[in-house]
Amino acid sequence: MQTWLSLEYDHAETLSLGDDEIRTPDALVEEFLRRHSEPGDAVLDPFAGYGTTLTVAERLDRVPYGVEYEPERVEHVRGRVDHPEHVRQGDARELDPSGFPDCAICFTSPPFMERTDDRNPFENYAGESSYDQYLDDIETVFARVDETLEPASTVVVDVSNMKYQGRVTTLAWDIADRLADVFAFDGEVVVGWDDPDAAEDEDQFGYGYDHSYALVFSKTED
Ligand SMILES: C[S@@+](CC[C@H](N)C(=O)[O-])C[C@H]1O[C@@H](n2cnc3c(N)ncnc32)[C@H](O)[C@@H]1O
Repeated sequence: MQTWLSLEYDHAETLSLGDDEIRTPDALVEEFLRRHSEPGDAVLDPFAGYGTTLTVAERLDRVPYGVEYEPERVEHVRGRVDHPEHVRQGDARELDPSGFPDCAICFTSPPFMERTDDRNPFENYAGESSYDQYLDDIETVFARVDETLEPASTVVVDVSNMKYQGRVTTLAWDIADRLADVFAFDGEVVVGWDDPDAAEDEDQFGYGYDHSYALVFSKTED
């Protein structure tokens, strides 16, 4: 398996509502849905955001399901997909597996946290949290996701480390470490982002890098 990709940092559609910086480029979702699922398969994104995983999945004839915390984003995603009832508003930490079919793949990108931040990413940076609590919450979400997955299915997490004011938060590595408690870790794919519109600015992607990781896991047998 090739463990690096070079992709253009681009989105198929410009959205009326949207913070492009947090959107996953379609090409990355497409790459992993093609690698790890088939037409007709159910696909889950517990942090649906503006709906990239769901819209790409539909384009590839998969059947997407999503959870998103922000009601405004939920309405937005519902307007972009064929089955709006598959898009649930809620907290992924409380995801109810009985509300979903068995999924062949989970492709997602969680809200990010810098290690000195004390705002809670799981409440869209309202409320308080800590980096250790954040990692506990990540593990909680994916333990729930695990219960929605069919045997031998795949989980792909799009995440990067973060460079902020000269400090590095090893977010990708810390998430990989925590999720290896839930799934078998198959390894990382390094994704180099080419952004033709970006200025020569190290903060061009908000997190301080021009690469990210697709962390790939497999469901373990019970
Ligand atoms: C990195 S963004 C995902 C972007 C998405 N991949 C896209 O392309 O639009 C993370 C999303 O997680 C959502 N989120 C934050 N806390 C959440 C929670 N507790 N439960 C579900 N979603 C949550 C945020 O509102 C945000 O939209």
